[in-house]
Amino acid sequence: MRPRRFTATGPLMGRIRVPGDKSISHRSIMLGALAVGETRVTGLLEGEDVLSTAAAMRAMGATIERDADGTWHVHGVGVGGLLNPREALDMGNSGTSTRLLMGLVASHPITATFIGDASLSKRPMGRVIDPLSQMGATFTAAPGGRLPLTLQGIHPAVPIRYRLPVASAQVKSAVLLAGLNTPGVTTVIEPVPTRDHSERMLKGFGADLQVEVEADGTRVIRLTGEAELKPQVIDVPGDPSSAAFFVVAALIVPGSDLVVENVGLNPTRAALFDVLRQMGGSIEELDRRDVGGEPVADLRVRASALTGIVVDPAVVPSMVDEFPVLFVAAALAQGSTVTTGLEELRVKESDRIAVMRAALELAGARVTETEDGLIIDGTGGEPLPGTDDGAAVATHLDHRIAMSMAVAGLASRRGVEVDDTRPIATSFPVFENLLETATTAATGTA
Ligand code: S3P
Repeated sequence: MRPRRFTATGPLMGRIRVPGDKSISHRSIMLGALAVGETRVTGLLEGEDVLSTAAAMRAMGATIERDADGTWHVHGVGVGGLLNPREALDMGNSGTSTRLLMGLVASHPITATFIGDASLSKRPMGRVIDPLSQMGATFTAAPGGRLPLTLQGIHPAVPIRYRLPVASAQVKSAVLLAGLNTPGVTTVIEPVPTRDHSERMLKGFGADLQVEVEADGTRVIRLTGEAELKPQVIDVPGDPSSAAFFVVAALIVPGSDLVVENVGLNPTRAALFDVLRQMGGSIEELDRRDVGGEPVADLRVRASALTGIVVDPAVVPSMVDEFPVLFVAAALAQGSTVTTGLEELRVKESDRIAVMRAALELAGARVTETEDGLIIDGTGGEPLPGTDDGAAVATHLDHRIAMSMAVAGLASRRGVEVDDTRPIATSFPVFENLLETATTAATGTA
């Protein structure tokens, strides 16, 4: 364990640049590994989760190398060309690696065993096992459909028409990726839209993929296999889920005026910024542009008096990873913030409803837990009391709990002790350095 106390160090100033988007980074390695020829990727997130994906694709035959200047070169094996991995694929903490790779393996005639850390080994895989079994793959999993899990793929797999029972981009992507090496049309029906990076990137690599939006907003995604993917040059935009920590920090630490550069603003990801604006947050978009086929801008964020709101549950899929840090913003707002429809948060890297309730209470916030959300009565801008000596927030191997409570520490009287900062490296290895940069810019000691 690597504990750390995060304390108030003054306003966040200057400019910082967030690293590459985690979802897009995973997908660029996976699709690059299935194209014939060399895919070049710049701006790749070099976090542990993405490195787990890269290691797994290497174990199944792809050649993946990094230049000294940070450009990644992926030489793919072609759709249908994945090889049997010799050892178990260690997915570490990464649900995205596990579920998307299960999709890829399912339609190849290979067998792979997936293992992971204590957090990942508690997470439900049945949601992916169900559709992939319908396609013909076979599974042996730990009780409850959990890791360790062995998957025997099949070729040709059966193309299915699958209506998502949960709003999950990982499940959608697993089925579409399985469809790449499946003859015929694989269809995913998505009643509630989730992040669409897989669809965008599959099209970019030349797959025959069509999206139809019905009158009620349901998306019908059709992918025709067997696909041939053409190598691409990809510039990964910055991760809005990483930017979120700095945006909230700058809003709640008095006197802050921070520019967060290179923030991906794909509408299926960016709802947090709209919710924070509804709460009174000053977040300005500068230099809106396109990076790697995704909308991007620099965000200028100024400290703001926030007001609690009732968050519309319809936005949940577009900010599913941002609730822990939204709860921190709510804890500093005037009045109460009510969130509902967050059942999925209970099966993330930790139970983010229960874990954030406990963490915020330990830091002195007023929080009520409901079945599907939290109700938070904010301080009205007063700093949180912080954690007592000898008490530490339990992060449960969850990077976003660690970073959210680090942000809470910046707006607290005594500071917030976090029990373990190591999980931060799964998605945002430079988080602590950037925090240093942003908080020393004000005093000119950077
Ligand atoms: C992701 C989808 C989301 C998200 C995760 C990344 C992806 O998970 O929480 O961090 O890259 O597809 P779910 O699909 O389980 O909601």
